[in-house]
Amino acid sequence: MMDHIKDIPGDKSISHRAVILTSLSKSTLTFNRFLTAEDCLNTASIFRQCGVPITDEEIIKSTKSITIEGQGLNGLTQPEKELYVGNSGTGIRLITGVLAGQTFLTTIAGDSSIAGRPMKRIVSPLSTMNAKIEGQTKAGKDDIYPPLTVHPSQLSGTHYTMPIASAQVKSSILLAGLFADTPTTINEPKFTRDHTEVLMHGFGINITKTGNTIILNPPKEDFTYKGTTSLTIPADFSSAAFFVVLGLLRNSDKPLQIDDIGLNPTRAALLDVLQAGTTRGTITVEGLGTTLGEKYGNIIVKSSPINNDALTKAITDDIIPYIIDEVPILSIAALFGTGTLKIRNAEELRVKESDRIATTVAMIRALGGEAIEYEDGLDVIGKGTIEPTTAIDSHGDHRIAMSALIAEAASGKTVSVPNKSCINTSFPNFEEILNRLKSQA
Ligand code: S3P
Repeated sequence: MMDHIKDIPGDKSISHRAVILTSLSKSTLTFNRFLTAEDCLNTASIFRQCGVPITDEEIIKSTKSITIEGQGLNGLTQPEKELYVGNSGTGIRLITGVLAGQTFLTTIAGDSSIAGRPMKRIVSPLSTMNAKIEGQTKAGKDDIYPPLTVHPSQLSGTHYTMPIASAQVKSSILLAGLFADTPTTINEPKFTRDHTEVLMHGFGINITKTGNTIILNPPKEDFTYKGTTSLTIPADFSSAAFFVVLGLLRNSDKPLQIDDIGLNPTRAALLDVLQAGTTRGTITVEGLGTTLGEKYGNIIVKSSPINNDALTKAITDDIIPYIIDEVPILSIAALFGTGTLKIRNAEELRVKESDRIATTVAMIRALGGEAIEYEDGLDVIGKGTIEPTTAIDSHGDHRIAMSALIAEAASGKTVSVPNKSCINTSFPNFEEILNRLKSQA
């Protein structure tokens, strides 16, 4: 007997990139298992407003499938109003890279969380490409914040060494690089997720990676996707991660199988970390092949004690970018473990949907656990269980809300998360899956 999850939604990072790159291509493509969460629906809406024919939102939601009629590299048209990314840092950073190379003026904004997220990290490198972007300033802060006004400009290539490890920044520069009149070179001292590069390859764009140097030669003519017009997006590893951890923590002798999950090594490093900290054979992976140039497969998890010291040993500096979105749920795993989970060199967590160092530490403490906050990371001291709580504040952060609900399911104690509607930004059927598992227990 085995519990089985077959409906983890499509990968968020790939869903954004599918809309963006297809819109700029001359292909009409259908993507199945498109993520119908607010973040990606907002990206689709933005390209619709820029003149790209895209399936109506209600149909995308009911079919989980989207068709995009690419208009070519010079085919976008000026939207009538300000563009809105909602809660999506990926949306605003990647799309600003595209807008920087247009022949018309645009303004791009988001919700109150987006208004506080730093944009100098993209504005600086894009400015070296001749982009003209204005944003907001805040007293006492040396940064630039949305809304961003993007003026028309002819871009040139750049040679940029990334001071921070960010796939969003890298992708913003690469997308702008498509509109430049000379090649763009990026040095990436720490590797980050490579979905943009993988999808650009699929479109036949001339992008190469040697060591830590990426070179993009801007296409001289319109590009098309090679081989097929109907593609399936792998299920999102970061969403699956919540159930991988629940599979380890729950008191059940049934294994839990989670299907069709994206296993790109720049995303799935949490599996290596968890394998190091659990009983041998607890987590197994059944590779199924590749889709959209991305590896995917089934993950099978059995329940196991968790050794936090072994988790800590497996978290080397170079994999921090590969587990950056999984730190809140990894911290929940550690709360139920023994020993101490230590995460350092992860200061990027401070500028996610919430300050995830502060909000993760607050969540662990509110669950009755012990956690220590550092400037660039945190410690979680294993307690083996949680205390019943009054309420956990998600701070509007979907990954905090879902992590707290996994702690509830794993412990059988009551945890209330009053402001959990933010889960819709990435994983609309999260609670449906969770409740199904609870009712099967
Ligand atoms: C993303 C990159 C990551 C990640 C985010 C999605 C992407 O951000 O946290 O959820 O799709 O490129 P950074 O690369 O800025 O760390």
